[in-house]
Amino acid sequence: MYSKINRAAAYIQSFYHNKIDLAIVLGSGLGPLADEIENPIIIDYKDIPNFPTSSLVGHAGQLIIGTLAGKTVLAMKGRFHYYEGHDMETVVLPIRVFKKLGIENLILTNACGGIREDLNPGQIMLITDHIGFYCPSPLRGPNYDEFGPRFKDMTEVYSKKIGAIALDVAKNNNISLAKGVYAFFKGPMYESPAEILAYKALGADTVGMSTVPEAIVARHCGMTTLGISLITNKAAGLGNSELSHSEVVEAANAAEKNLVTLVTGIVKEW
Ligand code: HPA
Repeated sequence: MYSKINRAAAYIQSFYHNKIDLAIVLGSGLGPLADEIENPIIIDYKDIPNFPTSSLVGHAGQLIIGTLAGKTVLAMKGRFHYYEGHDMETVVLPIRVFKKLGIENLILTNACGGIREDLNPGQIMLITDHIGFYCPSPLRGPNYDEFGPRFKDMTEVYSKKIGAIALDVAKNNNISLAKGVYAFFKGPMYESPAEILAYKALGADTVGMSTVPEAIVARHCGMTTLGISLITNKAAGLGNSELSHSEVVEAANAAEKNLVTLVTGIVKEW
C-alpha cells in the first residue's frame, strides 16, 4: 500500500510540487466547481499509477490543481465508490495520496437523499457527523502507522471550526445551509422504504453512497475535514416518485451556483 501511495503521489508531484492548501472531492453533478479553478493543471486518473478509472455518468475522472479564492487547491472530479466493485483500500487511496502530498485540509461533497422532513431537493447540508454501521471499515487490515494509529478516535470527524465558517459564509451569501447526520449505504441500488425508516430511527438525516470511508481515513491521518451534502431527492418512500440517477444529476446541476458560491467562500475563509 505504501508503494502504491508513493508512486501515485510522485506522479502528481511531477506536474506540481509546491504546497497545496486543500483538496476538494466533487460528488455527482458537482463537477462544475472545478471550472472555477484558475490556471488549472489537469491530470487524468487513467495516467496516475494505481488510480482506477471512474466510469459513472457525472463523474469525469480528473485531478485539477490550481487557484481558487487565493488558495492552492486540488479538486478530484469523480471519486471511487464501493459499489463500483473497488475494495475499500482503493476507495480511500486518493485521500492517503493527498496526505502524502502534504495536504492537511479536505472538503468532501456528495449528492444524497433527504430523510429529515425539511431536507428537500436543492437543499445544501453541512455534515455534522455520520453513521457508517453499514460501511465496510476502510481501516480494516494492517494499520498504516505512518498515517495514524490502530484505534483512532472518531469524535470530531468533521471539523466544528470549519463548520462554523461554512455556516457564516452561507449566511453572508443568503444560502440556506442545514446541519445534519449523513448515513452511508453500500448501493448501487437505492434503499428500500423500510431501510429508510430504519435509518431514520437510527438518527440519520440523509443517506448516500460515498463520503464516509473517505472521511474516516482523513480523520485517521489527522486531516481537517468539512463535509457538504446536496440533497437531490427525498429518500425512498418519502417522495411521490421512484428514484432515478438522472433526477439526482439534474437536481445537483440546478443547485450548482449556490454550491460554487458556498465552497469558494469557505475556501477563502479557511
Ligand atoms: N440514496 C442513496 N444515495 C443517493 C441518493 C439516495 O436517495 N440520492 C443521491 N445519492
